Amino acid sequence: MTIKTIYLIGFMGSGKSTVGYQLAKQLGKSYIDTDQLIEKKYEQKIADIFKIHGEDVFRMYEMECLGQASAYQIVSTGGGIVERQKNLQTMNDHGIIVYLQTSFDVIAQRIDKDQTRPLWNKDSRETRDLFNNRTDMYEAFADYTIQTDDKSVDAIVKEVIQILAIGEIDSFNT
Ligand code: S3P
Repeated sequence: MTIKTIYLIGFMGSGKSTVGYQLAKQLGKSYIDTDQLIEKKYEQKIADIFKIHGEDVFRMYEMECLGQASAYQIVSTGGGIVERQKNLQTMNDHGIIVYLQTSFDVIAQRIDKDQTRPLWNKDSRETRDLFNNRTDMYEAFADYTIQTDDKSVDAIVKEVIQILAIGEIDSFNT
């Protein structure tokens, strides 16, 4: 199977950007982060888009930018990419989806008081509910899942490379 793009999905703070960047560097592939693309295209910070226009508008921007991001070989997505079913179709049309699965407690330690993520800056019951709902969605979207708790970025990158080495999708490496 010829695949063009690897999409990393997962909750906020699961390491999608760090892993995606390192993976692209090691494989010599092109890389983009959908949040970066949104901020560049609309010349606004993510937090400001949420504040000024609301989540629905953000999701529209995100859907559009995911389409553009599909021109890249490694794509880190925002944690809410699973909120729109059309995004699943876009990703399925262009490549494979790898879910970086991280426990809520590890995420809470990592992004603790981060002010740049509007959906994290809520009370802890709301963020835990979001995490639980999203977990089902990530599982439904994923072609492959990597558990990331207690693993280094290098170890996670190696696991993604192992997935790519599986015969079915090794055309990505040629
Ligand atoms: C969001 C996750 C963020 C960003 C936006 C919304 C979400 O990306 O797209 O704040 O809905 O989970 P990260 O997953 O990179 O933090």
